[in-house]
Amino acid sequence: MLTIPEVSPLLLESVFSPGLIVFADRVRDNISRMIAMAGDVNRLRPHCKTHKMAAVIRLLIDAGISKHKAATIAEVEMLADCGATDVVLGYNVVGPGVNRVAELLKAFPDLSLTVTADDSASLQQLSDRMSALNLTIGVMLDVDVGLHRTGVSADSPQALPLYAQIAAAPGIRAAGFHIYDGHQRQSDLTERREAVTDAWRDVLALKQSLEQQGLSIPELLCGGTPTFPVYCKFTEPEICLSPGTSIFHDAGYGSAFPDLEFAPAAVVITRVISRPTADRVTLDLGNKSVAADPPKGRRVLFPELPDAEQVIHNEEHLVLQTPHAEKYRVGDVLLGIPIHICPTSALHEDVTVIDNGRTSDSWRVTARNRCLTH
Ligand SMILES: Cc1ncc(COP(=O)(O)O)c(C=O)c1O
Repeated sequence: MLTIPEVSPLLLESVFSPGLIVFADRVRDNISRMIAMAGDVNRLRPHCKTHKMAAVIRLLIDAGISKHKAATIAEVEMLADCGATDVVLGYNVVGPGVNRVAELLKAFPDLSLTVTADDSASLQQLSDRMSALNLTIGVMLDVDVGLHRTGVSADSPQALPLYAQIAAAPGIRAAGFHIYDGHQRQSDLTERREAVTDAWRDVLALKQSLEQQGLSIPELLCGGTPTFPVYCKFTEPEICLSPGTSIFHDAGYGSAFPDLEFAPAAVVITRVISRPTADRVTLDLGNKSVAADPPKGRRVLFPELPDAEQVIHNEEHLVLQTPHAEKYRVGDVLLGIPIHICPTSALHEDVTVIDNGRTSDSWRVTARNRCLTH
């Protein structure tokens, strides 16, 4: 469903370009869909990396969501500031990051914060620091189910002793497994389900071995948006789901995974700034306004020009080549759906908000910086 809502041209006239527009009504609909798919609001721990906006966190909290996931310490700061008390930082914390999370725990005494770990020595350092400060932090074992980005595989000899170390370490609360599977990109839902189910066997076997040793696995934090429909149907009571992109959706996921029924809720606004040749339209939408991710080819989908070729993408220019170029005049407005919304949001300081066809507000992209507190 890769469509953009109708917006009055009069309204768009006053919106600066390049910019990001968020349709608040669509965000609320996507959140409701996530809750309906999960079957229980308590099974959701949405990832805030996609939007990084305090205003969206407030919509999630209003919808009854009390668990959150983050990728950076700044995102945790934003969440804690919004009143979130149960946050998983799905990231291994090392170096000065250890002191920053300790400072956060001191600043927000009601915050229950969990991080991930896959390395015995850094786990020891985290435990030493937390116990020296009389603090407690949750740690999830980062389980590698095939992405091979971080984590230990469930059937590796390190997995069991590492979780046992987490469970025994002072200052640490054993919080379960972190299971992210961004490599599962089968376009067909049945094939995706089979691949996830295959990897799941080893996860359950590890869980069982640990439980036989008397250790508790309170949470299995699973997946992103493409595998969300799969885990939604799994019945283990410890499962929590961590989609992020679903809140805004984008043209990358929309075209790769036709089963996903979310609607694009964040679009870029751009204007024609030049018509350099008969078949070219140059837009003010450089790679500082829409992410250069994927690395080559199309970075944005224009529903009114679906076949336009994106031939140059510089810092402040996007050049489209299209046989329909003659339709466009300098100054014309186009709306496009980013192929990858997460890094695109982070390029903007503020977004224009349209709610049910009217501009209602502007929201800050709160956690686009690395540190919010100084
Ligand atoms: C660790 C982790 N969890 C969850 C997500 C959310 O995934 P998605 O963007 O597919 O919703 C991501 C995305 O990169 C991630 O890296």
